[in-house]
Amino acid sequence: MDQLTMKKMAANAALQYVKADTIVGVGSGSTVNCFIEALGTIKHKIKGAVAASKNSETLLREQGIEVFSANDVSGLDIYVDGADEITPHKMMIKGGGAALTREKIVAALAKTFICIVDKSKQVEVLGSTFPLPVEVIPMARSQVARKLVTLGGSPEYREGVVTDNGNIILDVHNFKIINPVEMEKELNNVAGVVTNGIFALRPADIVIVGSPDGAQILK
Ligand code: 5RP
Repeated sequence: MDQLTMKKMAANAALQYVKADTIVGVGSGSTVNCFIEALGTIKHKIKGAVAASKNSETLLREQGIEVFSANDVSGLDIYVDGADEITPHKMMIKGGGAALTREKIVAALAKTFICIVDKSKQVEVLGSTFPLPVEVIPMARSQVARKLVTLGGSPEYREGVVTDNGNIILDVHNFKIINPVEMEKELNNVAGVVTNGIFALRPADIVIVGSPDGAQILK
């Protein structure tokens, strides 16, 4: 079974958690694009969505779904997003699409974080298969890169990418994250770092894994 079919399977299964008359938090990435398409089929059931990227905002509007600003809501019932890696403890690496900061902001508004992935995203240790994205204020690029080297990583500037917030991304390779909660906090304290792609302080609550055996729900 191909990866897109597994992503669609996970995305469609997430619809069962969408409650009537709510505003849904929506992340970004190719799996979320499948979710947005699925959400379009029940658009009359919901009030609208808060999007974690300009791209998701555009796709939601194309489906006829009203998009609210994060400043317009005091909370969300659910937030649905993908991940680049996810552990059995539901901790994630995110930011492959450079939307990590807004994803963390919208996730923080939600009561329940639902992560939708295909089975290739499941790992035992974060950093095993995917580099860690870090969003950095442009003037701090070199000093943050040096700090990441002292922490044991190999940072690489993501050429040609500017985030929705006008910043740059450093992808940290060769960086096995043994203590995700501590590392997330440590990186948050580096001057010039806007957000790091470890989602451990606020892990997912429900994971839906698309696989050849169907959509597996992990609670
Ligand atoms: C974007 C993200 C995405 O959720 C993550 O990159 C997964 O993407 P995809 O669903 O395309 O595999 O964090 O910043």
